[in-house]
Amino acid sequence: MVKFNENYLNIKQSYLFSEIAKRVNDFCEANPDKKVIRLGIGDVTQPLGKLVVEALHGAVDEMGKAETFRGYGPEQGYDFLRESIRDYYKRNGVDIDADEIFVSDGAKSDTGNITDMFSVDNTVLVPDPVYPVYVDTNIMNGRNIIYMDGTAENGFLPMPDDSVKADIIYLCSPNNPTGAVYTKAQLKEWVDYANKNGSIILFDSAYECFVSEPDLPRSIYSVEGAKSCCVEFCSLSKTAGFTGTRCGYTIVPKAIVKKASNGTEMSLNQMWNRRQTTKFNGVPYIVQRGAAAVFTVEGMAEAKAMINNYRKNAKLIADTMDEMGVKYTGGVNSPYIWFECPFGMYSWDFFDKMLNEIQVVGTPGAGFGKNGDNYFRLTSFNNYENTKEAMERFKTLF
Ligand code: MLT
Repeated sequence: MVKFNENYLNIKQSYLFSEIAKRVNDFCEANPDKKVIRLGIGDVTQPLGKLVVEALHGAVDEMGKAETFRGYGPEQGYDFLRESIRDYYKRNGVDIDADEIFVSDGAKSDTGNITDMFSVDNTVLVPDPVYPVYVDTNIMNGRNIIYMDGTAENGFLPMPDDSVKADIIYLCSPNNPTGAVYTKAQLKEWVDYANKNGSIILFDSAYECFVSEPDLPRSIYSVEGAKSCCVEFCSLSKTAGFTGTRCGYTIVPKAIVKKASNGTEMSLNQMWNRRQTTKFNGVPYIVQRGAAAVFTVEGMAEAKAMINNYRKNAKLIADTMDEMGVKYTGGVNSPYIWFECPFGMYSWDFFDKMLNEIQVVGTPGAGFGKNGDNYFRLTSFNNYENTKEAMERFKTLF
């Protein structure tokens, strides 16, 4: 008889954002006359940029003509996109090779799929609170997870502890959900820890485009020594509004090489290439053309204009927190505002209160780990009018 993967018994029945969507849908069905404002999942609302749309249209036209039609593409991504991502990094002072870049349908899939590369007996170190995909995918594989506390005391930026031995370390900066950002010096400590212990850092930089303070790092590869121990994930979802269009990329340096138990050298870059060519057929050509437009100088300027609009929303939320005397982090180098639940409430209770009393959806901190139990996350990805209305309603809670 077939045996199911019983590790699934150890994860919550539904994924955090599916649970929220279900509760919101139930509320909307029961209250069709109420206007619900969604500041929950980090889903963008502004349309794709003009240059992206032009590139997409051009690619559709190519697919409609025999002489420019394309079938299967390279699983790793077309050279034109890998090279434009490489050039984007170069403009930001980071050198990576195009064949270290693997184009994918987004950082969520890749941060989950990368677990294929590692033996099940590795110990995984995860900050708490954190994006739930890292934890859930490792539980699905049956790996041992150690949590490191992200608290107001350490600015939600846990640092390495030499007494803890971890093989795989997840870092997310700017952080989802707290919006906290590691400095270069802090990341250097992590890179040194990983190189000393032979560990791997899985660095999620999906929110790098929100970094506004010039000294803060946007890529782990801006830190010396990172290429021998770090994999970086990034996505166009938040950079250029691709949550529905789907495109991201993962950088796997060729310098990450480890010896197998029989002495054979194993290259993570080659392994990931082998995995992707076997299990993935690549991102559609049309989407990759749209993505390449983002990485041009003009395309990035267009994306920045879009991000600036979200920044205005973030400021509005942060200003409201200040006005109401609520403690928070984020909002400056991040689209997220992470705050202590008012009235000392548990975050799922506060979620219900917000939904029932003011019809504003947020994300309960408990969904990101135990240190989030009494915290709440709002996103700046709705439009300005809705964000403003949500904040007016928020004030009425007090
Ligand atoms: C979030 O709200 O945390 C993100 O949108 C989730 C994601 O990017 O998958």
